[in-house]
Amino acid sequence: MDQGTTPPAPDPAPYRGPGAGSRLTRRKPVERLITESGKGEGGALRRSLGVWQLTSISIGATLGTGIFVVLGEAVPEAGPAVIAAFVVAGFTALFSALSYAELAGTIPVAGSSYSYTYATMGELTAWVIGWCLILEYGVSVAAVAVGWGQYLNELLDGTIGVTLPDALSAPPGDGGVVNLPALVVVLLAMVLLLGGARESATANAVMVVVKISALLMFCAVAVTGVRAGNYAPFMPLGVAGVNVAAATLFFSYIGFDAASTAGEEARNPRRDLPRAIILSLVIVTVLYCLVAAVAVGAMPWQDFTGSEAALAGIMEEVTGHAVWSVLLALGAVVAIASVVLAVLYGQTRILFSMARDGLIPAVFSRVHQRTGVPRANTLIVSAFCGLLAALIPLGRLADATSIGTLFAFALVNVSVVILRRTHPRATRGFRVPLSPLLPALGFAFCVWTMTGLDAVTWTVFGLWLVGGLVIYFTYGIHHSRLGRPHEEAR
Ligand code: ALA
Repeated sequence: MDQGTTPPAPDPAPYRGPGAGSRLTRRKPVERLITESGKGEGGALRRSLGVWQLTSISIGATLGTGIFVVLGEAVPEAGPAVIAAFVVAGFTALFSALSYAELAGTIPVAGSSYSYTYATMGELTAWVIGWCLILEYGVSVAAVAVGWGQYLNELLDGTIGVTLPDALSAPPGDGGVVNLPALVVVLLAMVLLLGGARESATANAVMVVVKISALLMFCAVAVTGVRAGNYAPFMPLGVAGVNVAAATLFFSYIGFDAASTAGEEARNPRRDLPRAIILSLVIVTVLYCLVAAVAVGAMPWQDFTGSEAALAGIMEEVTGHAVWSVLLALGAVVAIASVVLAVLYGQTRILFSMARDGLIPAVFSRVHQRTGVPRANTLIVSAFCGLLAALIPLGRLADATSIGTLFAFALVNVSVVILRRTHPRATRGFRVPLSPLLPALGFAFCVWTMTGLDAVTWTVFGLWLVGGLVIYFTYGIHHSRLGRPHEEAR
């Protein structure tokens, strides 16, 4: 067992096993979570990822549709103050990122916040979080894949002068029949993932370099078109506008936690996971603020309304040459594909953990012996996400993703505080400074941002939770491994 997975010294924590408390609040001991790490049905995941690969998994999962597409939807909500909205959304992410860093460095397993809440708040809460993570990961893959199609069309238009007809590039409800590009990008990611975690991580790292370069190129070129007058008035829609835009833009930060789903494939997870999470967030925040500042400086904010591939449009406007917008569209196509890859990866690993715990069928934790990949899991998840991407409009999906993620993040902040009390002596690769103040702020920011989402999104979220509870009470509660006496002894 390597250094990163040494179980922490057991604390005298009051473990509420099946005999000691109700089934809904039974908690999975931290020691057991760590001992089981890596093991699946019929094989084990492989430890092959270092700190840079982990950081690029997080950047890979984060930087994509949010900045290339959703920015265009957020500018009309806040005006030039969209820059402030990025900062507010970044803070919401930052406090939660610190909490993720502490938990990932203490319980470095594949289940991310699902596993953290299993150890701190019990099975029912863990299930609810696992269910929300399907919104954060599975549904966001679909949302992101939809954005990919928009830039692919931009690219095809700029290079060969052809665009896909609406019927084949938009879902029903958005004027089309099926979103074929969205389906294709999910299937491409699936093929890479089936090859192995290390191979996918390398492909992802290359794509991350391409997307960061594309955004830096945008800043360098579009800055020549910045006019001071475009920044005034800075906040035409007031603080309320900033709140709404921050809630919309929160989507662009989702994914920094993806490294935490690689806990069982990291070489030194206790040290490297916290570093990867914080480093990736710092890099994307700086990039976002720069890009937003240049974008609203180069184009009057009112002109963003209805613009699809906003950044590419700005490049063309500023330079007068289509070649720049084609280059940017190419960067976006690569960028968004890497989000699909990294987020799809995260979703498979979270379901892997949930299946190992018995809360969903064991097929999700079956590992292919040669590649060390949960193969059936990858196939099922890709099929689900691909269909969702092909058939549902983006906006609704992005908001549903944000609300599920914010809820999971809020509880991660609570978990840090609980774990400090129940396991004060556990080995921690990173400690949130000023706890419980910063986790409390993280919690408050998440709740505040959730209030910026509209009633329809809340209703969708409510229905999603009800669906999740029905599945838990009809399946999970009866199949949970934590409840089986012979499993306790494993
Ligand atoms: N943060 C990811 C994106 O913006 C979901 O594409």
